[in-house]
Amino acid sequence: VITKVKARQILDSRGMPTVEVDLHTNKGMFRASSPSGVSSGMYEAIDLRDGEKGTYLGNGVNRAVNNINEKISVALVGMDPTLQSQIDQVMIDLDKAENKSELGANAILAVSIAACKAGAAEKEVPLHKHIADLSGQTSLLLPVPVFTLISGGKHAGNNLAIQEIMILPVGSKTFEEALQMGSETYHHLKAVITETYGAHGCNVGEDGGFTPNISSLRDGLDLVQKAIGKTGYNEKIKIAVGVSATEFCIGTKYDLDFKTPNKSGQNFKSGQDMIDMYKELCADYPIVSIEDPFDKEDWEHVKYFSGLGLCQVVGDDLLMSNPKRIERAIQENACNALLLKVNQIGTVTEAIEVVKMAKDAQWGVVISQRSGETEDSFISDLSVGLATSQIKAGAPCRGERLAKYNQLLRIEEELGDQAVYISEKWRN
Ligand code: PGA
Repeated sequence: VITKVKARQILDSRGMPTVEVDLHTNKGMFRASSPSGVSSGMYEAIDLRDGEKGTYLGNGVNRAVNNINEKISVALVGMDPTLQSQIDQVMIDLDKAENKSELGANAILAVSIAACKAGAAEKEVPLHKHIADLSGQTSLLLPVPVFTLISGGKHAGNNLAIQEIMILPVGSKTFEEALQMGSETYHHLKAVITETYGAHGCNVGEDGGFTPNISSLRDGLDLVQKAIGKTGYNEKIKIAVGVSATEFCIGTKYDLDFKTPNKSGQNFKSGQDMIDMYKELCADYPIVSIEDPFDKEDWEHVKYFSGLGLCQVVGDDLLMSNPKRIERAIQENACNALLLKVNQIGTVTEAIEVVKMAKDAQWGVVISQRSGETEDSFISDLSVGLATSQIKAGAPCRGERLAKYNQLLRIEEELGDQAVYISEKWRN
């Protein structure tokens, strides 16, 4: 049973406070922490921050920590950690607010994940196996990693409006080989960028992607294509683009120069211009996936674009991992893949439910990091246990990103002959 729940404030990869929790049972101590992102909106679960301007610029999480130590711990001590949905429901009931703003989604998620780890230990099974059992999933799958190679948007200080250019090593036989392909491409890219933009073009953004001072997506895609060419892997590696268009949508226009000072205003695009641009890029590069190609409220263009069937269309800000938004998107065929950020929904049980919704609709599922991460690697086990086929955890570089990829290496090793890497079937 759960004997003690103790939380503290730690710092995330951006150096901002976040919540860490130690959940104790008779089997030992189980630790988990919450990530946090840049894009956050009214449909996602809310992180509780202290708002005291003099301390961590208002970003302290002591209120959330106290909520765990004083309220959540009292409610959970004595419970069986294998009963994940009951534990999550106790916290949801205690919070009362639909967006978890009373106790804080940062508080609730960290406890929910720690309880899940404790539940696995209680049953003496690996974490991914416990998650599979919780969700009724019978087969475990190693996902294709979606590596960020170039960062832009709100994740970087360059002029690139688009948030990230990523690669998927879909042609590898194992996860281990996929990680090697990602790492080699990353290092070739470093040399390619240095040639053209100098060493400072290889400074990295929030997720570890390089930040050459380009402003056009095409320039970034050319750099990545050149790096892939140097690896010799060629068609075994596909490209994905994370647009995050909500960040630069002004009214009905998209400002592709939103980060450029003294701009002329010529780079304002309509929704139709954006569609034309994506069509051309999909024809010219091996792009297999585009995330948030339009503003989160631009349902008209995203529906039309998805209908073209040019690539996987992933909903991140469009869906915010929110069941109501996902339901609407399924009804309206607005996209065909869910980007799941566990802290946007706030508990392991609700994460499992939305993944099921997406899978029932024959969608793809990408388990995702946040830009502000910790060394917690829970999402790796989540991805294997829920057999989600894709995981996006940033560049193959920086400790908080590698915590996730390295955990997948360990899981693959542990599964041995039973390990199935999804490879070319990543969209099914
Ligand atoms: P975030 O985005 O900044 O909202 O966490 C992360 C991502 O989409 O990878």
